[in-house]
Amino acid sequence: MAIIDEIAKRRTFGIISHPDAGKTTLTEKLLLFGGAIQVAGAVKSNKIKKTATSDFMEIEKQRGISVATSVMTFEYRDKLINILDTPGHKDFAEDTYRTLTAVDSVIMVVDSVKGVEEQTRRLMEVCAMRKTPVIVFINKMDREGRDPFDLLDEIEKELKIRVRPLSLPINRGSLFKGVYNLHKKYLNLFKPSTTKVAEEMLQIQDINDAALDKRIGEKDAAQLREDAETVEIVYDHFDVNEYLKGNLAPVFFGSAVNNFGVQELLDTFVEIAPEPRGRETDIRFVEPQENKMTGFIFKIHANLDPKHRDRIAFLRIISGKFERHTYYHHVRLNKNFRFSTPVSFMAQSKNIVEEAYPGDVVGLYDTGNFKIGDVLSQGEDFQIKGIPSFSPEIFKELINTDPMKSKQLEKGIAQLTDEGVAQLFTQQPGNRKFVGTVGELQFEVIQYRLQHEYNASCRFQPINMTRACWLRSDNQQKLDEFIRFKSTSIVLDKDGHLVYLAPSEWFLKMERDNNPEIEFHFDSEFKTELV
Ligand code: G4P
Repeated sequence: MAIIDEIAKRRTFGIISHPDAGKTTLTEKLLLFGGAIQVAGAVKSNKIKKTATSDFMEIEKQRGISVATSVMTFEYRDKLINILDTPGHKDFAEDTYRTLTAVDSVIMVVDSVKGVEEQTRRLMEVCAMRKTPVIVFINKMDREGRDPFDLLDEIEKELKIRVRPLSLPINRGSLFKGVYNLHKKYLNLFKPSTTKVAEEMLQIQDINDAALDKRIGEKDAAQLREDAETVEIVYDHFDVNEYLKGNLAPVFFGSAVNNFGVQELLDTFVEIAPEPRGRETDIRFVEPQENKMTGFIFKIHANLDPKHRDRIAFLRIISGKFERHTYYHHVRLNKNFRFSTPVSFMAQSKNIVEEAYPGDVVGLYDTGNFKIGDVLSQGEDFQIKGIPSFSPEIFKELINTDPMKSKQLEKGIAQLTDEGVAQLFTQQPGNRKFVGTVGELQFEVIQYRLQHEYNASCRFQPINMTRACWLRSDNQQKLDEFIRFKSTSIVLDKDGHLVYLAPSEWFLKMERDNNPEIEFHFDSEFKTELV
């Protein structure tokens, strides 16, 4: 197949939600409908659980939290779908943010009872930054949830995106009867089941057709017609280009645990979701159909099994064809590498990949050569834009508790932060090290891993810092002055960029007011090298 056809065939996306909204359940159901798993049983049966997740890390097993971001591939219709799973746990949000740099679109799951929640809001901000197309799936319609129009309003207001319902629910909770698809004009009747893998779509072209009253009763049919009219009046028409630009989110209603609304979602997804897109670099835009292979690392996964201490770097292919045993140029290290065992993922089974195309994710065994954001190319030197580090939320000082093992600690913390487990900031002079994360759990992960993998011991001491701001200014003199005055709060990130650690929002506001010529950025896309 020509590369252009390979590209047209692929859809790479992520499912995001606040924990408990139903992301895992929906992922499993998509795999089930896509035929990637055959076990049409209860969602939480161990078998499906085991197949649908890729929990490599021991610590994850202990805690039962999805630490890992895995890739699941299946075919549906004539499309090859790559789902990049994202950890739902808030403490691993940074992992999710980075995974969003490797997808071309997302499905956002919202709980019909709880509506928009904190994590939904933050994830949407990341999608908005990159103008990622979003489809919304309002889940748990079998529960006594909120009024659908209230939910739609809340999504528009809180997530700052226009919505357009493509289906409308008929009642909810114990009275939930199904949905009417406004887009395709069919009735999808709700039959709770955790096993069936096909939905019956009953064509009713005209919503005023009496067949509707027969099927769902006059009262509900009348309500549905009224709701459909409201949709026509209140919401913009569904324009696929607006969706592709990230301005308009189509909305579906369903119940993932009951296998309801999943096929409807999947059918629309394969129809409208974008094909693999190119990426902006610091010198030019790379198009997927270019002949030369380009890809970037968005995730590094460590194996905590002491017998298999390998890491897997996840490469998202942007352009060209990736081939096994072929040399590629590692831009940052200015070295060529070839890979004899690149792997693809289907849940926990890994398969050797002979070739891969734009949109695909390939796992590369790594012995410490990769960092998040690294680029592989066929000669050209550039960096992919839009893979910034975001300001962590919790900062602690790393204290070495075994001075005999300083080297091990230095190496360990450097490698763990290369993987993106946390961010490392170093004070100069003095070499004090501060670790920043989005959740407390990472400190435990780091401590555990430093001990088990590097034989180094440490403790973390709380410090009074709340935000990392990457600094930039056109006025070098002002910047130098600021650095001098604030030297105790100035650190360098891993790549040597200048960062101000703000003790509080109040302080930060004051510094911003007092230093109008200095830009304070909450992500590393805007940075200044220390001169
Ligand atoms: P997450 O990955 O977003 O964190 O959510 P997950 O899929 O684990 O789902 C969270 C809970 O919501 C699960 O229940 C799941 O069964 C339930 N759930 C998912 N979809 C639906 C739905 O459409 N309707 C209803 N009523 N519940 C749904 P749990 O109690 O945590 O687990 P379990 O007891 O079901 O195993």
